Amino acid sequence: MINIAVFASGRGSNFAAIAQAVRKGDLKVKLALLVCDNPKAPVLVKARKAGVKTVLVNRADFPGKQEFEGAIIGHLSENNIDLIVLAGYMRLLSADFVKIYYGRIINIHPSLLPAFKGEAGIRDAFEYGAKITGVTVHFVDDQVDHGPIILQQEVSIKEKDTLVTLEEKIHKVEHRIYPEAIRLFGLGRLKIEGRKVRIINRKVLQR
Ligand code: GRF
Repeated sequence: MINIAVFASGRGSNFAAIAQAVRKGDLKVKLALLVCDNPKAPVLVKARKAGVKTVLVNRADFPGKQEFEGAIIGHLSENNIDLIVLAGYMRLLSADFVKIYYGRIINIHPSLLPAFKGEAGIRDAFEYGAKITGVTVHFVDDQVDHGPIILQQEVSIKEKDTLVTLEEKIHKVEHRIYPEAIRLFGLGRLKIEGRKVRIINRKVLQR
């Protein structure tokens, strides 16, 4: 079974969905660590309740980004982490960090990449007047919201949708496909081939 570390800075609904999938036995990985950079993040309370080991690594406690990331790398090695799962982690990873873990870091973004990158993916699609948006899970490279795509699912934007209902629809999809992507990684089914990800035996695995 692989060891995963979730990185989160805020609410932590994706963390909670992953923790629940693990607890229910739907996702057979060890949720070994939560890495959080924000002392006020609600995800810290969720992790405590779920009994997940947590480290708070506060950027303000370090002179530079290199030392800050060095501390994180120390925690990852100590806990034998196989996969880093970014779930609302609001800091950019340095190119050096990505180089060490490339192919072992995934992110979830609330749009159909490459559309609507950035912090406000849901709002931007809504305000743009898009009829379709969605969710993307991808391997992380050294550009923002960029890297080989693992899974995508579309979400339609209806005329009756408000930003709030759209957010709800998006999060519901996120909470389903993120555990699914982690499951595929854990089973060794994800192969990066250049820009693309090949999912081995996807059909066999679909339930
Ligand atoms: C999610 O919408 C995710 O796609 C984006 O940040 C948000 C995190 O939400 N990267 P939560 O903290 O998991 O509730």
